[in-house]
Amino acid sequence: MKKVRMIKPAGKIGVFDSGLGGLAVLREVTELMPEYEYLYLGDNLRAPYGDKSQEQIFRHTLSGVRWLFDNGAEITILACNTASANALRKIQREILPLEYPDKRVLGIIIPTVESMESFSSSGHVGILATEATVASEVFETEMEKHNPGMRTVCQSGGMLVDLIERDRDLKMLIAEIENVIGKLLDRDGLIDAVILGCTHYALIAGQIERILPKNIKVIEQGGIVAAKLADYIDRHYEIRRILKNKFSVSFHTTSGSENVKKLMARFYGADIQVSTVEYEVL
Ligand code: DGL
Repeated sequence: MKKVRMIKPAGKIGVFDSGLGGLAVLREVTELMPEYEYLYLGDNLRAPYGDKSQEQIFRHTLSGVRWLFDNGAEITILACNTASANALRKIQREILPLEYPDKRVLGIIIPTVESMESFSSSGHVGILATEATVASEVFETEMEKHNPGMRTVCQSGGMLVDLIERDRDLKMLIAEIENVIGKLLDRDGLIDAVILGCTHYALIAGQIERILPKNIKVIEQGGIVAAKLADYIDRHYEIRRILKNKFSVSFHTTSGSENVKKLMARFYGADIQVSTVEYEVL
């Protein structure tokens, strides 16, 4: 009798960010789907991405995605709006078909925008994002497609990512949040929901919430992205069947700094082992 060879599913879910921000997404994803194996990569060495050119963001993101694929990820989520806005399309259209035809890369901007309608009654939504995300105008373009009646005001979060990555003191952080929120609300007084359109900002959501007027809701992406990813995996059997059904998470950073590793543990909210990885950037 002919033997049928069973292939053991061994695939992982890759989660990529420029640094610490993706941990807020990873936390929600692993809570919702504790049945898979996850590989987190933060490119802390090169963060922030938000003040870089589109070309640089593309090259950095692609190098990170390649590392995740080479280390067992079958599907990778860009848990970074800046990378989603400036690199996702090019990777999906130009790289995957040639180099990784069976793998997938997903972004987080469209899933966020798709869920927006339910969060605002005034129809005026503020978005805090990095300079490079604001410049890409991806949020406005996608809002126009998915929620054409809504007014979107995109405001740069200034130095916030830098302050988080460098663990600057609370005073500086609060002053920058006040500055950024002041600018946003000056531009539109009818805003009743603010999307944290940079995953790093979810790490300081509490402080942002305290500074915003009480009638304005703060929308974090983690829960939204986790639900959309679960739905995607559910609908795509060709991906689901190759994912390993055993929970584990491994954490990686391109930074060699012990402080960065401590920050990763603090923001993930657990005592985790983080390893430093090196790879070539194009
Ligand atoms: N966490 C990233 C985002 O969601 C970007 C932070 C950065 O500037 O590197 O946009």
